Amino acid sequence: MKTTSMERTFICIPNVGESGYPRLYSGARELRKQSDFVPESEPYTVCSVHPLTPLIGAVVEGVDLREVDDAVHAELHRALLEWKVLFFRDQLLDGPEHIALARRWGNIEVNDFFPNGDVQAISRLAKGPKSIGQENMWHSDTSFRRDPSKVSILRAIDVPATGGDTMWADMAAAYDNLPGSVKEQIDGLKAIHTFTKSWGLTMAPEQVAAIAEIHPPIAHPVVRTHPETGRKLLYVNEPFTTEIVGLPRNEGDELLDYLMFQARVPEYQVRFRWEPGSVAIWDNQATQHYAINDYYPQRRVMERVTVAGDQPF
Ligand code: SIN
Repeated sequence: MKTTSMERTFICIPNVGESGYPRLYSGARELRKQSDFVPESEPYTVCSVHPLTPLIGAVVEGVDLREVDDAVHAELHRALLEWKVLFFRDQLLDGPEHIALARRWGNIEVNDFFPNGDVQAISRLAKGPKSIGQENMWHSDTSFRRDPSKVSILRAIDVPATGGDTMWADMAAAYDNLPGSVKEQIDGLKAIHTFTKSWGLTMAPEQVAAIAEIHPPIAHPVVRTHPETGRKLLYVNEPFTTEIVGLPRNEGDELLDYLMFQARVPEYQVRFRWEPGSVAIWDNQATQHYAINDYYPQRRVMERVTVAGDQPF
């Protein structure tokens, strides 16, 4: 099958599996960052922003995250919308400063699953021989909530000598590159998200029941719109999305499988190597991420604060 789009030409190799969706195709991908949609994009003046790929992820220098005033926050937020995930080195944040930084973006979310760090509302992800990292699935944080997180801030406390990187994928690019026929097919569809597909499997039944009272299964649009940039974003993910509403199960599962596969396309991704004191801030509405678990049984300790978002539309 051959698909053309303006000057770009793809060679699509039909799936080897049962599904009719072509997963494999070579050729240039359509990679437009947010600033491509802004008529005149101003330079950054308060901090320096160094992109890691043409599309997603930038290292920010010249900022002490303990002292983010309005001018710095405005620039960081613009860079976040443009690059979707920002990386910082050698930061000296403690727990309360981590929370104060996150509050710049809105109300803090309390995570019902991860044990808290020193301060309520910090999720401590402490991995080692007895507590194995499970976040090596492409996902968007807390998509099982009615109002999933809009921004997540992760701080490295203790990292293995090698390994334990995290990857992020740009879900606007994932949407942009879908074939037109698939875009038409998914327009207006909703999918069910629930924690019981993943985190729930590791919990006692009474705990699952208690959390399900707070977070029952919820239907979100398969394609959500970014509340600030207006970009269309593919919004289904492996650990939390279970089915597409209104489609026969087989048909829906094939489509879901194909859509979830899109986060795995390398052109949409960035990969970050952690050091103690590194911090990542990501736009959780526009991205998915994957914590690589190649360091077991070494220790890897991270702390995360998430900021409450709005109901996807
Ligand atoms: C997460 O899934 O939010 C954690 C990512 C990581 O530990 O790198």
